[in-house]
Amino acid sequence: MDDPRKQAPSASATVRFRPEIVSAAAYRQGRPAPEGGFKLSSNENPFPPLPSVVAAIEGAAQEVNRYPDASAAGLVARLARLNHVADEQIAVGPGSIAVLHQLVTAVAGAGDEIVYAWRSFEGYPSVVTLTGATAVQVPLTAEGVHDLDAMLAAITDRTRAVLLCSPNNPTGLTLGHDDVERFVASAPRDVLIVIDEAYVEFVRDDEAVNGLAIIADHPNVVTLRTLSKAYGLAGLRVGYAVGHPEVIAAVRASGLPFELSSIAIEAAKAALDAREDLTDQIDEIVARRHQIEAGLTDQGWALPDSQGNFVWLPIGARTEWAADVLEAQGIIARVFPEGIRVTVGERESIEPLLTATAEIVRGLSESAETAS
Ligand SMILES: Cc1ncc(COP(=O)(O)O)c(C=O)c1O
Repeated sequence: MDDPRKQAPSASATVRFRPEIVSAAAYRQGRPAPEGGFKLSSNENPFPPLPSVVAAIEGAAQEVNRYPDASAAGLVARLARLNHVADEQIAVGPGSIAVLHQLVTAVAGAGDEIVYAWRSFEGYPSVVTLTGATAVQVPLTAEGVHDLDAMLAAITDRTRAVLLCSPNNPTGLTLGHDDVERFVASAPRDVLIVIDEAYVEFVRDDEAVNGLAIIADHPNVVTLRTLSKAYGLAGLRVGYAVGHPEVIAAVRASGLPFELSSIAIEAAKAALDAREDLTDQIDEIVARRHQIEAGLTDQGWALPDSQGNFVWLPIGARTEWAADVLEAQGIIARVFPEGIRVTVGERESIEPLLTATAEIVRGLSESAETAS
C-alpha cells in the first residue's frame, strides 16, 4: 500500500543544473538472471569469493566504526610489488571507472576533448560527461579493433586525453604492443594516454599490449586495472592506475578522501595474497572461453579473437530477437545495436548457451534464405 506520508514534490526544481548532466543517459547495468538462469551480462567472475577473502571482510566488519586508512597504504604496497613499480606509481579508487574519472578530471574540463574508440566500454561517455569535456568517438574498424591512425588524426589542440581499451569491451580484441608503442611515439607528449586493461589477466596473446612495459618510457601513459574481473571483487569496487609519480599524484588529488572502504581495502589485500588460487580460476575461465569459441566456430560463427572473459556475437540488426532466444535458454547477455556480448560464466551455462546460439544460426540463415 502507498505510504500516505510520501508526497511527490509538486513544483519543478528551481536549481540551475549543468545541461550536460540533465541530458546524461543513466549507465545501463547488465540485467540480473531469471530463476535458475545465468547472468552473463556484466563480465563478472562466476566464482564465489575465496574463504580467505570472506574472512578478511568479516574481520574488517568488526571495525567499521573507524574510518579506513585514507592512503590505503597496505593495498598500494601490494599492488606496487605485484606490478614491479614504486608505491608512488599506484593510485587506487572505488573501481577502475572511478580512477578513470579522477584521471580525466585531472586533465580536462569544459572545452577540452577526450578521444576514445567506439563502440567501447559504456562507462567512457559518462566519465567524459561528468568532467564537462567533449567526447570524440572514433569508430572501430570493420574488424572491431581501434582505428589507431584515425584516433591519432582526431587529436587536436583541445585534446587532453586518449582512452585505449585492450581487450576492447565488447568486441574482445586486443591492441598490438608495437602498434600502441608507435601510437604513443606519434601522439603529443602533453596528452594523457590511458590504456584500460580491465581484462588483462585473461589475455593469452603474446603480441597484445602490456601497458606496464610502456609506462616506463612514457610519463604521459597510464595503465588502468581492476580487481572487479579476474579478482572477483566487482561488488566491493577496487581499481587502480599505474603510471608516472606526477600523474599519479594528480590522480590522487582528483579524488575525495576515504573513497575505498576498510572492507574493500582488506578484501583486496586478501585477494592479492591469494593470487595462486585465483590464477587457477582465471585459467579455468580462459579454458571455458576456448570451449565456447570452439563450439561457436563449429556452428559457423565468424568470431573476433576475444581475449577477455566474454565473447562477442556480431549479429547485426537482429540482436533483440537473438537476445530472446538466449533468454529462453536462461541466458541473460548484454545486447548492443551491433551484436551481443556474452560473459564466460558458470560451467553449466555453456550447454544452454551453445544450444541458443545454434538456434540463432538457424534463424539467421532461414531469414537470409527468405530474403534471397
Ligand atoms: C573496459 C572496462 N574498463 C573499466 C571497467 C570498470 O571496471 P570497475 O569500475 O569495476 O573496475 C569495465 C567494467 O566492465 C570495463 O569493461
